[in-house]
Amino acid sequence: MAESMKGLHRTHRCTEVSSDCIGQTVTVMGWVQKRRNLGSLIFVDLRDRSGILQIVFDENDAGHENFEKAELLRNEFVIAVTGEVTRREGAINEQLSTGELEIRARELRILSEAETPPFPIERNLQTKDELRLKYRYLDLRRPDLQHNLMLRSKVATAVRTFLTDEGFLEIETPMLMKSTPEGARDYLVPSRVHPGSFYALPQSPQIFKQLLMCSGYDRYFQIVRCFRDEDLRADRQPEFTQIDMELSFVDVEDVIDVNERLLAKIFGEVGVHVPLPIPRMTYQEAMDRYGSDKPDTRFGMELTDVTEIARNCEFGVFRSAVENGGTVRGINVKGQGAMPRKKIDALVEKAKEFGAKGLAYLSIQEDQSVKSSFAKFLSQDEIQSLVSTMGGAPGDLLLFAADQSQIVCEVLGHLRLHLADALDLVNKEDYHFLWITEFPLLEWSEEQNRFVAKHHPFTMPMDEDLDKLESDPGAVRAKAYDIVLNGTEIGGGSVRIYQNEIQEKMFEVLGFTKEQAYERFGFLLNAFKYGVPPHAGLAYGFDRLIMLMTGEDSIRDVIAFPKVKDASDLMSEAPGTVDQKQLEELGIQIIRQEDNEDV
Ligand code: AMO
Ligand code: AMP
Repeated sequence: MAESMKGLHRTHRCTEVSSDCIGQTVTVMGWVQKRRNLGSLIFVDLRDRSGILQIVFDENDAGHENFEKAELLRNEFVIAVTGEVTRREGAINEQLSTGELEIRARELRILSEAETPPFPIERNLQTKDELRLKYRYLDLRRPDLQHNLMLRSKVATAVRTFLTDEGFLEIETPMLMKSTPEGARDYLVPSRVHPGSFYALPQSPQIFKQLLMCSGYDRYFQIVRCFRDEDLRADRQPEFTQIDMELSFVDVEDVIDVNERLLAKIFGEVGVHVPLPIPRMTYQEAMDRYGSDKPDTRFGMELTDVTEIARNCEFGVFRSAVENGGTVRGINVKGQGAMPRKKIDALVEKAKEFGAKGLAYLSIQEDQSVKSSFAKFLSQDEIQSLVSTMGGAPGDLLLFAADQSQIVCEVLGHLRLHLADALDLVNKEDYHFLWITEFPLLEWSEEQNRFVAKHHPFTMPMDEDLDKLESDPGAVRAKAYDIVLNGTEIGGGSVRIYQNEIQEKMFEVLGFTKEQAYERFGFLLNAFKYGVPPHAGLAYGFDRLIMLMTGEDSIRDVIAFPKVKDASDLMSEAPGTVDQKQLEELGIQIIRQEDNEDV
């Protein structure tokens, strides 16, 4: 009994109907949120993406036929209603922007009926994620997700407007490209025309945007899908969106400048003021103070190095860590000196999960005495200087880890975040932006027994460190920067190498022969032979940005059709098997992992 829309024209979205419209005849269309039948009156809450509007059916206005139809309405029916806008006779609903209005229906058409959905279409739905994702098209009807996706669209528009005004050109780059293994694992696409050959889906448009600089486009941007076959987490999806940009004839300061103004502009869209300039911290300082290259600076509890005090003490754990070239660092958990032993033990377990061998504690009682797992090995002087270095006061809990520096920093960095969460130390209204600069150019891969690029192989070393590229590659810092918001890396980029000599040296350090380098990146290296401008760029994780703007905990809630942890889509059931014929066309044979038998 689905009726046609013939002759009807929607005049307003639900909440576009305002008190200015009182007395006018309007036509609205949408979904039935709720129907209440009061005998001679039927009330319907009509919902569209803008919100909710109350419709009232009175047999005297609507006529018998329409009134009977209204009695048939169920949740999620799609209807069109024409009627007069009036001030509500009944109670005003303060919750709705249209709460003082209603439409007195004169005509009703049922455009589509609906089965009962598997969960109610409402805000703050409490149901299993699996169910929400299986019926994502229904989940997406809920006002919270609609809000998120509308904000996402608004921010994308603001980005486009801002960057266009700044002289950036929006240019698309290929989705089918050559695999350039370095970084995450590629998603591969088999070629039918070239059996046995594969395209890769881009992990980012990195090489193409650099080529666009070589081609003279000067400033490029794109809001672009990227694909990475890596383990998923709350802030990672196998396909995600970047706001990607590249600029010619610039250095670090220029990139930072335009991006600070961009951030101020887009956060303005959600009423967040971004004080400029955004603070900066070097990678080394971030690691030392927060044990993380993406520190959450909304709360303190910074790491303190107490190696010098630990060096000569009688506590074996501390002393031997230092003797083995490691460090001892601590965090001061303010006001938690009375934490019961059981809870401290749980923290020790947490620290072990984060990679520690153990966690030593010292709690300072109100009477200045201490309770500690190790203080008995220390002299009064050592305890005193430990407490004062840590800024300890009666009522504080001091936690220490001893190991190789990197482990100590990582463990305490994680523990700090864990404690902030457990003790509710973070004000959710705060937005702390931070640039992290001077990243190491390279990191040592035990697995591959070679240096790998920390960012990517085209990242420019800092001028001061160029001469160490051969003598001490591990110590070279890069002209690379990340932008961090509330402990999440929302973007990152770098100044690129544009001189062939430096690029070749870089490949050498990475352990590529010239042939290998040309095989992988030849088109970029060749392009550089024909005149290349100095250039630099940056890319934001657009999903992460929107996640933080909306206060969601997962990027799933800001992506229309996300995937779950095992990279599958519960709604369409991708990935799926394909016909034998399709495989044959591609020259592909599947080898089953369990039995290794051809099928
Ligand atoms: P990078 O690899 O740091 O840089 O990526 C840029 C930003 O993208 C986001 N991001 C992700 N978001 C969701 N899911 C993922 N799996 C995922 N992986 C990354 C992060 C990150 O900061 N081409 C360079 C940029 C450049 O140098 O210009 C690049 O891709 O927020
Ligand atoms: P143990 O000598 O193993 O009995 O440890 C004595 C105390 O030191 C316990 O409280 C341990 O949790 C702690 N501890 C052990 N290893 C470390 C470490 N690497 N760093 C900090 N504390 C540790």
